[in-house]
Amino acid sequence: MKFFLDTAVIDEIEEAASWGVLSGVTTNPTLYLRAGGTLAGFHDHLKRICDIVDGPVSGETVGLERAEIVREGEELAAIAPNLVVKVPTMPEGLAATKTLKEKGIDVNMTLCFTVSQALLAARSGARYVSPFIGRFDDISEHGIGHLGDVIKALSNYDFGHPVEVITASVRHPYHVVAAAELGADIATVPFSVLEKLVRHPLTDRGLESFLSDWEKVKNA
Ligand code: G3P
Repeated sequence: MKFFLDTAVIDEIEEAASWGVLSGVTTNPTLYLRAGGTLAGFHDHLKRICDIVDGPVSGETVGLERAEIVREGEELAAIAPNLVVKVPTMPEGLAATKTLKEKGIDVNMTLCFTVSQALLAARSGARYVSPFIGRFDDISEHGIGHLGDVIKALSNYDFGHPVEVITASVRHPYHVVAAAELGADIATVPFSVLEKLVRHPLTDRGLESFLSDWEKVKNA
């Protein structure tokens, strides 16, 4: 499984990249706002992220009509070679994805919840399909169950181009573990979840005991 960070915070991206585990980044307008973003600084901020990350960086379009989405997508794709255009799953989004794909621009189709949406996204030319997990849990549905359905359905077909599943709307470490067991290609996670994935109380306890014994060795 590849790990992406779902953030627009530069410090978090630099830290995860320094661990050698960062394969990509996904952003959206909410995350950019949370990172203190301004409209004027949007493209420069994405460029900074693209320079740090050795892998795809998703920048989201906000247009609702196909020509607008394509125009925004072209502008975003011009920022850096590793910029992937994030497009919402909707009819106008499918049409824009088809056009962007024809122009050689990779699309990450987001806000994807169902098998039918994922199949259509892949068929329209999306390079990445992002099923959301946590938002299903929020409405008392089984997000991981839906993810499993999407992975299984997509694996039945050859879309004529590579399609990778990005597990999105990840809120807990167990979402990542379950997604890996289902064979999801990628999980995009907040930095807080990435930190929880690496830590374990038994590791902390083991380290504490090794360090205390090493003190005894030094003093013997
Ligand atoms: O990658 C999409 C993600 O940012 C959405 O997460 O927690 O808002 O459902 P959330």
